[in-house]
Amino acid sequence: MPHGEAAMPLRSLNAAEWDHTYDSAIAGWDEEPPPVLGELLAEYAPPPVRVLDVGCGLGTTARWLANRRYTVTACDFSAHAIEEARRRTSAGAAVRYEVLDVTGHVPLGLFPVVLDRGVLHTCPTDRERRTFVAAMARMCRPGGLWVHVGAAALSEENALDQFSGPSWTTEKTFLKAVDAWFTVLDLRIADFGRQTGVTDWPARYAVLRRKER
Ligand SMILES: C[S@@+](CC[C@H](N)C(=O)[O-])C[C@H]1O[C@@H](n2cnc3c(N)ncnc32)[C@H](O)[C@@H]1O
Repeated sequence: MPHGEAAMPLRSLNAAEWDHTYDSAIAGWDEEPPPVLGELLAEYAPPPVRVLDVGCGLGTTARWLANRRYTVTACDFSAHAIEEARRRTSAGAAVRYEVLDVTGHVPLGLFPVVLDRGVLHTCPTDRERRTFVAAMARMCRPGGLWVHVGAAALSEENALDQFSGPSWTTEKTFLKAVDAWFTVLDLRIADFGRQTGVTDWPARYAVLRRKER
């Protein structure tokens, strides 16, 4: 670090920064999820069931869920992402979109299934991860499920916390973050996405049950 320059504390991007990202960059992660997510949902939460897609971005996963007979509420704090998600969604699709910061007040009630694809992994510190996990717990009914997809570090050496882009966490860090509110039912490692050289990096696919407390 150059002399006199203060260290930037690690933090996740805010809503305005995500708006800017969606306006100015190709959302390379935006694609239908690979088969493993469909397999986990079929096993633990077969349709029809209500799902809250948290941090839905451009709505690709939300529409993918709706096509599989889930009734989907999809939210994101980027108004620009939600505007584009709505534009891409046909009138009859079983998806309702909301612009919401899930770490604040969420007036949507409790869901039997909440899902995040690539949102917890935008939190680069234990503190932010705990805040996000508590938010997932507030939206998931006790005994309900959280289906998570996020960057996985397969060793301590590969762990990486970063301001912009995914933070790769070890299983130990992930378990520490979720433990207060959730019990792990299933944990698998598979590619995050389907695009060779773009999104075929290791991701953690987890199914967690909200503790009854
Ligand atoms: C890497 S993108 C993933 C988008 C989508 N889930 C997908 O798989 O394409 C992370 C998304 O989380 C959203 N996000 C991050 N923090 C959020 C928060 N506190 N409340 C709502 N959305 C949030 C961002 O705006 C962004 O769209």
